[in-house]
Amino acid sequence: MELAALSRAAQALADETRLRLLALLAEGERPVKELVEVVGQSQPRISRHLKILTEAGLIRRMPEGAHVYYRLARDGAAATLARAALDGLAESTGEPQLRRDHERLALIRSRNQEAAERYFAEHAEEWHRLRALHVPEGEVEEAILAALGKSRFRALLDIGTGSGRMLELLAGRAERLTGVDRSPQMLSLARAHMESAGLPRVQLRAGDALALPLPRGAYDLVVLHQVLHFLDDPAAAIAEATRVLAPGGTLLIVDFAPHHVEFLREEHAHRRLGFSDEQLTAWLAATELAAPKLSHLSPPSGSGEQLTVTICASLKAAAGREPGAVGGGSL
Ligand SMILES: C[S@@+](CC[C@H](N)C(=O)[O-])C[C@H]1O[C@@H](n2cnc3c(N)ncnc32)[C@H](O)[C@@H]1O
Repeated sequence: MELAALSRAAQALADETRLRLLALLAEGERPVKELVEVVGQSQPRISRHLKILTEAGLIRRMPEGAHVYYRLARDGAAATLARAALDGLAESTGEPQLRRDHERLALIRSRNQEAAERYFAEHAEEWHRLRALHVPEGEVEEAILAALGKSRFRALLDIGTGSGRMLELLAGRAERLTGVDRSPQMLSLARAHMESAGLPRVQLRAGDALALPLPRGAYDLVVLHQVLHFLDDPAAAIAEATRVLAPGGTLLIVDFAPHHVEFLREEHAHRRLGFSDEQLTAWLAATELAAPKLSHLSPPSGSGEQLTVTICASLKAAAGREPGAVGGGSL
């Protein structure tokens, strides 16, 4: 970083309100309206402070539908400077203004949490009915963990993250977690869910599975859990997931095997009634992915459940190599 840019970042930090904003963002990404509520200044003033911090490279701006979220910058000299400032602030835990800000933020979080719980409660019946159609969620999650074996990941991307359950499940396996979803409502749910799960630093972003707002090759684990059947063009989503996958990285797809539960199409927006192994394998082969390792969880006969879940894991070719098949009990 040039000296001039570093000096601009240092100057941006030389303001009480901006230090308060930085301390708030250290607790996780936040929309402008919540920062306005906590700091108690007008929206134009807060936006101006956020603009200065953003231009100095200390924080990042993330538009999401009608909202704009901010988070701390992670890379670069300005991010290092921000972390040093936060270390300094952490030593002033008794500072009354910072304590008040922290308490107000905690109130907003619990308010968000209550709203999320209301939403879950209103949809409980519907979810229950859908769950009862396939093997228990716990079994699927065990099979996912088994498919990944003991591998650890640098950066995980969960596409169509919904309430963020996959991020929660795999949080212990990855250094960085990112969830993308097209629905702002689902992202709000995920945000509340991440906070109650003690994962406030997960990055959640608005984005379409067919045109991810993310760089090529940035993730070494990409997950598509119960998302493909909502899409008109699942093959395009697989190609897009492969684009953001790093060489040698893993794509994990979990979805239904072919079925005839037609009401899912009519009442629950499913576009596709499951996918065959051949179909998935052909789509993967059309990208830079290896022949997948596939496993299935079928409901016991006579249980009334009708949907088999397929777990499909595939590796992207490491740079300069042909992709090898996923073998053994884990990746
Ligand atoms: C059934 S939920 C699954 C959520 C999550 N993966 C899980 O298993 O708990 C499907 C999610 O996919 C999201 N979705 C559907 N189409 C999408 C698209 N084109 N791009 C991004 N997300 C999408 C929906 O908003 C929804 O949150």
